[in-house]
Amino acid sequence: MIKYLGSKRQLIPWILDTINGYFPKTKSVLDLFSGTSRVGAALKTQGYQVYANDHNLFAYHLANCYIQTNIEDLPKDIDHIIKYLNNVPGTAGFFTEHYCIKSRFFHPKNGERIDAIRKAIDDLNPSAQLRSVLLVSLMEAADRIDSTCGIQMAYLKDWALRAHQDLNLRLPILSPQSPHGKSHAFCLDALEAAAHIECDLVYLDPPYNQHSYRGNYHIWETLVRNDFPEVYGLAQKRIDCRTIKSNFNSKRSFYESFLQLLTTLKSKKWVVSFNDEGFLSHSELKNLLSHFGSVIIKTIDYKRYVGAQIGIYNQRGLKVGTIKKLYNKEFLYIVNS
Ligand SMILES: C[S@@+](CC[C@H](N)C(=O)[O-])C[C@H]1O[C@@H](n2cnc3c(N)ncnc32)[C@H](O)[C@@H]1O
Repeated sequence: MIKYLGSKRQLIPWILDTINGYFPKTKSVLDLFSGTSRVGAALKTQGYQVYANDHNLFAYHLANCYIQTNIEDLPKDIDHIIKYLNNVPGTAGFFTEHYCIKSRFFHPKNGERIDAIRKAIDDLNPSAQLRSVLLVSLMEAADRIDSTCGIQMAYLKDWALRAHQDLNLRLPILSPQSPHGKSHAFCLDALEAAAHIECDLVYLDPPYNQHSYRGNYHIWETLVRNDFPEVYGLAQKRIDCRTIKSNFNSKRSFYESFLQLLTTLKSKKWVVSFNDEGFLSHSELKNLLSHFGSVIIKTIDYKRYVGAQIGIYNQRGLKVGTIKKLYNKEFLYIVNS
């Protein structure tokens, strides 16, 4: 799966134990801010019916692949399709021009193949589900050979070692359908999803700071959309990163939006992920959640995102500082009303 700021990769066993332990009768879970869909995919593997939602299209494709598509839905010749895509010869296009020459997120030899494979996926005219699986396979292959420290705001001054390796698509590992029914992916604003999707339990992992995921992962958004957007700056960000914002990325609007979201949710059983660097302090969030029911809190020390381990870089990829704090506290708030 792709590198992702705020991803719960290492916390998944803890989150699963919490849901299994505190809500043993749960059959369906809504992952309202699904990101990489790691949490939802782990829940689906355990047999839960999962509803995954994120407002970015690349995250929707991740959810459509890992959550909505079951292993039994894959065509019999899927390995041949992946092999075929891996053999498509590279042809420079938009991706190479913007992310390998005007910026240096990927080595041009790989950028040319990403351009050609992206076009080949559309030329295959796949079903919507297969399309997501192939786009995710390409996104993950590109992620493995990028030259960043985990976000697409800046690239490294010198090529990362992995950037010299050859792009290689793999089949994403999918799980079978849950015995409780088909799982579903949505690409909605969280407030809209909260108002429409019914399930036994909601897992909430909202953004915790001002950095927009659309900006941090603008290349994935452009890769899946393939819409050749106007771009700006050294990072060649999509122009719509300037206008498409989330209420959950602003300290000013976070509290009101989160309150509105909690009031809207159809299920009253929640597990909320938050950490000690978020817009709300631990006691503010605890007080807010207590208005809705009983709250149990679990906490764990957690290694901060990869960028914090590597240091601070300016937009030209030059190291300009180190980050003192390498661990933070992650909280799970278990709410039952
Ligand atoms: C902390 S990340 C979730 C990480 C995820 N749990 C994982 O492990 O990969 C927060 C996610 O919320 C999404 N998001 C931000 N604002 C949103 C909104 N208003 N509606 C829906 N999704 C939103 C972002 O795109 C991002 O993927």
